[in-house]
Amino acid sequence: MFITLEGIEGSGKTTQAKHMVNFLQNNGHDCVLTREPGGTRIGKKIRAILLDPESKDMDPLTELLLYNADRVQHIKRLIGPSLSAGKTVICDRYCDATRVYQGFARGLDIGLVNRLHQMVCDGLTPDITFLLDLTPQLGLSRAWKQIENGARTGAETRFEEETLAFHENVRSGYLELARNEPERFKIIDASRDEHDVKAVISNILSTEINPNT
Ligand code: TMP
Repeated sequence: MFITLEGIEGSGKTTQAKHMVNFLQNNGHDCVLTREPGGTRIGKKIRAILLDPESKDMDPLTELLLYNADRVQHIKRLIGPSLSAGKTVICDRYCDATRVYQGFARGLDIGLVNRLHQMVCDGLTPDITFLLDLTPQLGLSRAWKQIENGARTGAETRFEEETLAFHENVRSGYLELARNEPERFKIIDASRDEHDVKAVISNILSTEINPNT
């Protein structure tokens, strides 16, 4: 099974991904927790370039290609082999992030984004995508608090430094993707307390992994 988490900055994906692994492992799943960008050794180097606040002058097309370079390496070296070995892969962001950040928010041609994904992903689509939804005001204030208290590195703030309008476009892009694929997407109210969000996600996972109960 291939599960992804998506959402704006400060939506709590990373924390919820860890809860998800615990829940699934307790239910007998052999799990791999990973993320994009940066799920592989080479991907970590690509991540550092992409998220460095000093990469402000990066061209949107360079950005699109680097995210997809990271993804090729990730699929070929980690996601594909793990799924083939029968493991459950939980991935913090995947192609939907590119559709939304580079497509909707940066304004790159969505046809180009989708053609690249056909080449890079070769049909590998998540079975379930959790969209952790909340306002950019709340998400960004949480994200900056984590950076200020050292829970997140200050070396990866290029996107946090984008305008509120950019993050509003990201949020509406995600909601539009979710409306277009309601079977795959589960929209979660991420403004709620961490433990409430965890309970909602665990309930959905229970139904998905035991469809007959
Ligand atoms: P995160 O791992 O802390 O969520 O940060 C990753 C950042 O990269 C986040 O701001 C979203 C952005 N991103 C894209 O713009 N396109 C992509 O394809 C992916 C995977 C992430």
